[in-house]
Amino acid sequence: MVTGGGRGIGAAIAERFVAEGARVAILERDPSLGEDTERRLRAAGGDVRSYPCDVADEAAVVEAARRVVEDFGDVDVLVNNAGIGRLGPSMSFPVAHFRQSLDVMVTGVFLCSREFGKAMREGGGGAIVNISSINGLVAFPMRLAYSAAKAAVVSMTKVLATEWPAYGIRVNAVAPGMTETDMFRSAIDEGLIDTDAYLAHTPLRRFASVEEVAEAVLYLACDRSSFLTGQVIVPDGGWTAFGWVPWSGDPEAPAI
Ligand SMILES: NC(=O)c1ccc[n+]([C@@H]2O[C@H](COP(=O)([O-])OP(=O)(O)OC[C@H]3O[C@@H](n4cnc5c(N)ncnc54)[C@H](O)[C@@H]3O)[C@@H](O)[C@H]2O)c1
Repeated sequence: MVTGGGRGIGAAIAERFVAEGARVAILERDPSLGEDTERRLRAAGGDVRSYPCDVADEAAVVEAARRVVEDFGDVDVLVNNAGIGRLGPSMSFPVAHFRQSLDVMVTGVFLCSREFGKAMREGGGGAIVNISSINGLVAFPMRLAYSAAKAAVVSMTKVLATEWPAYGIRVNAVAPGMTETDMFRSAIDEGLIDTDAYLAHTPLRRFASVEEVAEAVLYLACDRSSFLTGQVIVPDGGWTAFGWVPWSGDPEAPAI
């Protein structure tokens, strides 16, 4: 079960799970994007179904969970991936954008975890993987709502990891750095991201691919990570490890 699987990281996660032989359900606010992923992955032999659903809408999530369980029998894995990037100066940030950010990325994670968690409990357990962000771990100006929501995702991950072992449910998170997706490219187009400056802060000197993020999600979702719960994996090319200095990346260069 992947939320926001219509494009970007969510579509790559769905694809990676299909390659592993999983049957995949997608919850997607934009039905045409969900159908695109469904069509593409079915053509590749995957058993994939897309369900139109806004994860912030309680009634819609309850109904989608009912339909997914009806169609698939049970749910082993939930990936809470759906997200939106509302950025801007905090002094003039519209409260509507603030609320919308929390609705999708906090309430949405809560609702999907609650409803699909029930299905996992009935089936004897499972794994939840929440998509946070490095924005939820370290400070970025102009991202107040997004960062608050992504920090809450880390917090909810830890709370549920302590609460749901009785149901056989592990809960972990992936907090990616800058990843090449439509969301990321539109932020570049809007002038919100200076790619050279970002790369100068990234020890591996490149952005993540969606496949690299999907690989971390797969690891946390499967039994290879059976003793991990309440953890955050950070595929960020070294971003959060790096306390910034003007660094060329050349270890042979004169001292800076
Ligand atoms: N791209 C990055 O650099 C990056 C970095 C760190 C974390 N993330 C996180 O990864 C996740 C995926 O990001 P992406 O870059 O692939 O974004 P994206 O915009 O390309 O894709 C997000 C998908 O989620 C869907 N969606 C949005 N709101 C929804 C809702 N209320 N209900 C159901 N579906 C909804 C969208 O329709 C879209 O298909 C997000 O949670 C994002 O915050 C992205």
